[in-house]
Amino acid sequence: MARAIYPGSFDPVTKGHLDIIKRSSKIMEQVTVAVLENPRKVATYNIEERVKMLMIVTDPYPNVKVDYYKGLLIDYAKNNNINIVIKGLRAMSDFEFEFQMALVNQKLSPSIETLFMMTNNKYSFLSSSIVKEIASLGGDIRSLVPPEVHEIIIGKYQT
Ligand code: PNS
Repeated sequence: MARAIYPGSFDPVTKGHLDIIKRSSKIMEQVTVAVLENPRKVATYNIEERVKMLMIVTDPYPNVKVDYYKGLLIDYAKNNNINIVIKGLRAMSDFEFEFQMALVNQKLSPSIETLFMMTNNKYSFLSSSIVKEIASLGGDIRSLVPPEVHEIIIGKYQT
């Protein structure tokens, strides 16, 4: 079995992300969920909050660890002896961008493979941006985010 990285912004983690984490943890020896600390993108939740939420929701899975990285994904992967990148695909609209990223990563590091995992169709509409949009307008996001982090997520939108 292989060691994998599941990278993303996770701003914040959703039930769709957690579904990919659970399913990949069953087929990989170890899965590192890695949050990109991107100085060029303004996040709603800071890096500590995003890592903390991921640590809470992945606690039941002993072969899943959470970390963050700056810079190139493949550099983090190489430095941590990881040879598989897991990406979730929700719809054809995700494909073009993910395909480009996979090809760039393959060019930069041919020994690292990208594997795409289809979303559970229950979550094909779901994204962190949708969660934030609904929460900011006072809607109920309980069916969209793991219950353990619901309070932390809505905390940003309560006055
Ligand atoms: O959740 P996101 O924002 O779609 O995740 C995108 C992410 C973080 C996986 C991707 O942007 C990334 O790994 N960036 C790090 C920089 C990098 O490696 N770029 C080369 C691939 S184009």
